[in-house]
Amino acid sequence: MSHDELTKNRAREAEARNIYIVDHRVDRQDHWQRTGHKGGVLWLTGLSGSGKSTLALGLEQALHQLGYQGYVLDGDNVRAGLNSDLGFSPQDRSENIRRIAEVAALFAQSGTLAITAFISPYQQDRDLAREIVGEGFHEVFVDASLDVCEARDPKGLYKRARAGEIPEFTGISAPYEAPDTPELVVNTSNLGIEPSVHRVLDHVETHFALNRSRLRVA
Ligand code: ADX
Repeated sequence: MSHDELTKNRAREAEARNIYIVDHRVDRQDHWQRTGHKGGVLWLTGLSGSGKSTLALGLEQALHQLGYQGYVLDGDNVRAGLNSDLGFSPQDRSENIRRIAEVAALFAQSGTLAITAFISPYQQDRDLAREIVGEGFHEVFVDASLDVCEARDPKGLYKRARAGEIPEFTGISAPYEAPDTPELVVNTSNLGIEPSVHRVLDHVETHFALNRSRLRVA
């Protein structure tokens, strides 16, 4: 389903429940004019330990320094609050991704560049996120092999998953479906954090900046 169809269906279904969607008086062009860039979602996906959070946080900082309005929504943080009722079954992961897509869409509508850092292992869930957000959704594959992520094991979770202490662990006992056609691939096995941030900044400048000279990446 397209984003427009989803929006129309949503309005129709809401009205059947006596819910009436209001239109904002400040539209997205107004937000863009104020910030100098389009709103959108950079949807980072990759294995645990691939560097999603590190990249997202580095990017948020770099964007801030360039005058962009950006904000990170991180898996572990969101699971500590909004999604604290969810576990790691396929159903719970889908619901995790659905809710965060809804939140990211609101950020995007407000003119912010939402940077989401979730494993989001299922293509179907990421496709739904794309439908929910609509224009400005960019899937960024943070690509590091399982071997590399397991060797890094920053939280010691792979070791525990191998020992059978963490069930349904992505890459070990639960699947990860790599994206087929992401807007951007950042291979963090070969690329350090700083060049990785620059790779995404270049992409942001190309696709989201309104006045490229003002926001040009050094
Ligand atoms: S997702 O699959 O639903 O997108 P999400 O990104 O929110 O996952 O959360 C992943 C984080 O939860 C990991 O970084 C890790 O710290 C923690 N975690 C705990 N249990 C698991 C598990 N079974 N599989 C993957 N990550 C887990």
